[in-house]
Order: sequence, then structure tokens, then C-alpha cells
Amino acid sequence: MAEAFNEKIITGDKRDRYAIVAQEIAAVLEGEPNLVARMATVASMLAATFEDHFWTGFYLVDPDKPDELVVGPYQGTLGCLRIVFGRGVCGTAAATGETQIVEDVEAFPGHIACDARSKSEIVVPVRDRSGRLIAVLDIDSERPGAFDRADAEGLERILKQAFG
Ligand code: SME
Repeated sequence: MAEAFNEKIITGDKRDRYAIVAQEIAAVLEGEPNLVARMATVASMLAATFEDHFWTGFYLVDPDKPDELVVGPYQGTLGCLRIVFGRGVCGTAAATGETQIVEDVEAFPGHIACDARSKSEIVVPVRDRSGRLIAVLDIDSERPGAFDRADAEGLERILKQAFG
């Protein structure tokens, strides 16, 4: 399954890409209960689907410091390790519980620049079955304005399917 996915060149419209990768993710995660394994798989498969996304990964709510995020499984260059709720795009998504679409990272107050290539970003809250916030998914693009409602809807659906 992993080889077949990695060899496949995913083409087509963004919504089609999310629909295809959602099915692939569901198939790979079938029967796997471990949270780290599930997050690593989602990060890897999403990163492989979009060429301009250079950072795709999770920040988890730290069980020891519930107002702090700590980095989890990701694909990309070195990310910062901890983000306090309310800081940057990730901290804003965690504090508000709302998906953040940032067309221009330089225009976002308090944006945390982990990699100078970042031009736009989306951060989506991740909830468990009971609705509790467990993490956020952060994706960074080298292209300005790379993310829109189609990304938010595609990602929200995948995260609900994988962790909800
Ligand atoms: N830009 C994010 C920080 C995390 S990294 O980009 C990997 C933010 O402002 O929350």
C-alpha cells in the first residue's frame, strides 16, 4: 500500500486530491490504534500529495501543560518545539478552536517563522471522538495564498475521519 501510494502521481483539482488521499489514508490506518502512528501516516501522505507544501505536521496539546502545544509527527524542515496557546497561527487555532487560513504570513500578527520559505499557511484543530482538542495540523506553503476553503474542508474531513 505504501509503495503504491508513493509511486502514484496525484493530479487533478484540489478537491479531487483531498478525496483521493482521504480514501488512501483511511485504508492505511485501518486497524491501527496508535496515535503517533496515525499522525505520522497522515503527515506523510498529505505531504506527498501537494508539491508546494514544504512543512506538514502536528502540534499536540501537551498533557503536562494544557495551554501549550508541543511538536509531534511532521514532514519538513526543523519546526519550533513549543508554541503557547494564543501565539502565532498554531496557537491561535488552538485557542479559538477555529481553522486559520493565512494568505500572507507576514500580515498575520505574531506569526512564528520557522522557515523563511513560508508564504502562506493553514492550521486546522484536531479533536478526538469526544470533541476534545488534542492537536492542530499545520501546513506551510512556499506559494502566497495557497490555501482556501477547499483545503479547510478537505483537511477537516480527513482529520475527523482519522482522529474523531
Ligand atoms: N508558523 C507557525 C509555527 C510553526 S511552523 O511554521 C512549523 C505559527 O505561526 O504558528
